[in-house]
Amino acid sequence: MSYQKIENLKEQAFSKIKAAQNSADLYQVKVEFTGKNGRLTEIMKDMAGLSKEERPLFGKKVNEVKSEFEDAYLAREKTLKTQEINQKIQAEALDLSLPGSLSAPGTIHPIQRVTEEICQIMSRLGYSLRTGPMIEKDYYNFEALNIPADHPARDMQDTFFVDPTHVLRTHTSPIQIHSLDREKPPLRILGTGPVFRCDSDISHLPNFHQIEGMCVDRQVSMADLKGSISFFVREFFGPGLKTRFRPSFFPFTEPSAEVDCSCPICLGKGCALCKQSGWIEIGGSGLINPKVLLGSRVSYPEWQGFAFGFGIERMAIIKYGIDDIRHFPENDVRFLRQFKI
Ligand code: DAH
Repeated sequence: MSYQKIENLKEQAFSKIKAAQNSADLYQVKVEFTGKNGRLTEIMKDMAGLSKEERPLFGKKVNEVKSEFEDAYLAREKTLKTQEINQKIQAEALDLSLPGSLSAPGTIHPIQRVTEEICQIMSRLGYSLRTGPMIEKDYYNFEALNIPADHPARDMQDTFFVDPTHVLRTHTSPIQIHSLDREKPPLRILGTGPVFRCDSDISHLPNFHQIEGMCVDRQVSMADLKGSISFFVREFFGPGLKTRFRPSFFPFTEPSAEVDCSCPICLGKGCALCKQSGWIEIGGSGLINPKVLLGSRVSYPEWQGFAFGFGIERMAIIKYGIDDIRHFPENDVRFLRQFKI
């Protein structure tokens, strides 16, 4: 009777293995027959009703069926798993005819581009780049540049004060002082970055960019300054452009000169960009005031120097014929896209 039961179970188990259409269903068959409370496991309980002689034979038979079940199970599992993997591969196959998703490459911001170009040109004269903090001690922004408190020259720059002794730097000239303090002459450095002034209209931004140059060497004259800046203007704007130096005043230079270049749009004839003058101002310059050198413990007249500071937005406006300075911080892609390399 019990043998018959085993045979029946075996038949049922095998046909269920065959019928299973996926590995999950197949696993359920395993649970049903050889699991902890499975039917082939439970049948061992029938042993209790058998005679002593019959028990080992019965046990052997059950174990044989179990092992046949296991073999059949593994074979079916292999087939089903292979089928499933193949189905998955097919479902995930790439459709190479589908259009890809376009990622629009960015462009270098014109301010960055002009900065890099200036650095590249000046590096040919031996200049290398420095940076400095945007929040400066009053000392570096004014005092060390020979602009003491109450000096009327402070009115030239409308200052954002962070606290009574710190300002948002109003120019890149403090980078000169950091360099004089830390480095030994001879020096040829550039300092660049954002500067801040409490000023805003069609041609002024409260946050704009400057680039500063400083040369400190044994014998430096206005001729060196004029030669270096004229070289730069020709390289940056084009070979036909002239440079003009107008006497001016900065507390940190003596003598001082404002730098103009001939208008690259009308080449000096007069147009709207240069306000019919034929010239465009690009920045200030001069021989470093000995007070500044001595303040940073640079021995003068053993060491002398010249310096200059240009507005980067202004240079970009001139070079690319941009009509409004406010385009720079707006980040309108229609504007920025025009500066693709
Ligand atoms: N720092 C000046 C400004 O922002 C520009 C300047 C003038 C820089 C003369 C210099 C210089 O280095 O020598 O208006």
